[in-house]
Amino acid sequence: MSAQIIDGKKIAAEVNEDNRKAVSLLARDRNLQPGLAVVLIGEDPASQVYVNMKDRKCQELGIYSEKHVLDINASMPEVLSLIDKLNKDPKINGILVQSPPPPQIDEEKVIETIDPAKDVDCFHERNVGKMLIGKQDGFFPCTPYGIMILLERSGIDPCGKHAVIVGRSNIVGKPMMSLLVQKAAGANATVTCVHSRTKNLPELTRQADILIAAIGKPEFVTADMVKEGVVVVDVGINRVEDTDAKRGYRLVGDVKFDEVAEKASFITPVPGGVGPMTIAMLMQNTIKACKMQNKV
Ligand code: GUN
Repeated sequence: MSAQIIDGKKIAAEVNEDNRKAVSLLARDRNLQPGLAVVLIGEDPASQVYVNMKDRKCQELGIYSEKHVLDINASMPEVLSLIDKLNKDPKINGILVQSPPPPQIDEEKVIETIDPAKDVDCFHERNVGKMLIGKQDGFFPCTPYGIMILLERSGIDPCGKHAVIVGRSNIVGKPMMSLLVQKAAGANATVTCVHSRTKNLPELTRQADILIAAIGKPEFVTADMVKEGVVVVDVGINRVEDTDAKRGYRLVGDVKFDEVAEKASFITPVPGGVGPMTIAMLMQNTIKACKMQNKV
């Protein structure tokens, strides 16, 4: 079998077209403009790229955006005082602090300081709890939510399927388990999460009907670890040295694409798979935050 490519760029463009329409309706009917503040501490090159992409997408869709870049040595009081200011700012409906912050920053404390109503990342424990119990009045975290939409719009129903998630991060692995296992349309999967301490990892990944790779290790999932016909979603974005490439590196996922694509029925590419969806869902969450805060 040679896999069909799940085109994340195309599906994200469709979601963003809906987002653009929603923004223009809010302007026309309510005189409202959703607003997003993105906070970056330090100048990690990959984080800078992501933050700039988020900023640019806001501009494209008519969402007000503010980018706050703090010094790499910024103190906790500086960061918390910025969050406090953004919590109170009526122009700002969503706040995102790019992860990971530098080591002097207590990320958990920063997240807990964000007003849950503005927590468009769904990192705050109140929103994580709401997601887990299936409540709709919080947010869903952007990457796992984007993956659910990729599956849905590719005609893949997880109902009754065995979904195996490789990786247990708070940003992807754990919330992905939660969304896939929900008793809800587009979910209802049987979920296994494997990680660095799993003893028989390839034995478990070979059972997957849907395999989500989010372990942050370049080309970790190889063809011998999957079964014929599996649906593969690759969340990894890893820079690997490549002296032939103009920038000196190339991007690879957590899946050895060429050989796994030979066995899979569907597969997401890197780049152009999950990445664009994360940003599209962030835009959707920002619009939702604006609507909820204004009781639309
Ligand atoms: N770093 C990697 N992914 C994300 C994300 O979805 N949100 C934030 N805030 N930081 C990230």
